[in-house]
Amino acid sequence: EPSVEEARFDALIAADSRVEPRDWMPDAYRRTLIRQISQHAHSEIIGMQPEGNWITRAPSLKRKAILMAKVQDEAGHGLYLYSAAQTLGITRDEMTDQLIAGTAKYSSIFNYPTPTWADMGAIGWLVDGAAICNQVPLCRASYGPYGRAMVRICKEESFHQRQGFEILLTLMQGTPAQREMAQDAVNRWYWPSLMMFGPPDDQSPNSAQSTAWKIKRFSNDELRQRFIGMLVPQAAALRIELPDPNLRWNEDAQRYDTSEIDWTEFFEVLAGRGPMNAERLRARREAHEDGAWVRDAAAEYARKQSLRAVA
Ligand code: 3HC
Repeated sequence: EPSVEEARFDALIAADSRVEPRDWMPDAYRRTLIRQISQHAHSEIIGMQPEGNWITRAPSLKRKAILMAKVQDEAGHGLYLYSAAQTLGITRDEMTDQLIAGTAKYSSIFNYPTPTWADMGAIGWLVDGAAICNQVPLCRASYGPYGRAMVRICKEESFHQRQGFEILLTLMQGTPAQREMAQDAVNRWYWPSLMMFGPPDDQSPNSAQSTAWKIKRFSNDELRQRFIGMLVPQAAALRIELPDPNLRWNEDAQRYDTSEIDWTEFFEVLAGRGPMNAERLRARREAHEDGAWVRDAAAEYARKQSLRAVA
């Protein structure tokens, strides 16, 4: 027989209402939200590194300003999401320690290198494009602080995706070398961007429960398919090839047939053995250590302020 609180929680979920921080919730609901929201926040913060690599080397002042604004947005997305996770009882320090210790997950996509400027276009178009497909449904997540953070993040993501598309369009209208650089970047980022949506539905241990609790509104494969459907016409407009010879519309199934995704690569990256995992954690650890004096100074200032207030 469910308790009064459980019945109330179940009624909130059934009515598609919002669960707020002070509401009673099952421990497992709290745990899976801390898991997902903290990983999402880590993804935003680590996601600053691949693009940060090109801020000092952007080809024009305009591109530099746009890229700086985008990386700054990612930092803000990370802070909204860490704050949303903190409403569930985990502290910012605990989450930072987990990331720096290498025990926290963050999106696999950020463990790939960005060797050319065209990578900035491929990341905006593919990575932020995939993030939009994944994040729009999360605006309706049953946990209030998470859904509300998503609304604000999604507004900024559309600019991120458009500027990436525009970088690729500019390159595709340029010299043969620029066209080749753009195609090469899409060849490298296309498959990892499909992996962002998570493992296939039949290998997704969290999906069933997350869907029952209306955290996840569509399955990993459904969103992956939606993303591919969005990419095909845009790739045609860019006159860029999506690197999958078997990609074709299946009228009967009303979905795209694709080549097999290399899930071995995905699980290797999740195990920390991707091309850039060690470098991403090293850089994040170094930033944390370099910033220690700022945290100490702020804490000392706050201590003096509180003494003054008392005096
Ligand atoms: N990278 C790393 N880990 C991944 C992953 C990926 N691309 N996809 C799945 N995983 C992990 C899951 O976290 C889970 O491990 P855990 O139980 O230890 O947490 C395991 O693989 C099995 O996957 P499931 O499908 O069972 O897990 P979920 O139900 O959590 O689904 C998800 C995975 C779709 C990524 C979901 O967690 C989600 O929607 N997260 C929030 C959105 C997000 O993180 N988006 C990617 C970040 S990119 C970004 O936001 C930056 C952008 O602004 C540029």
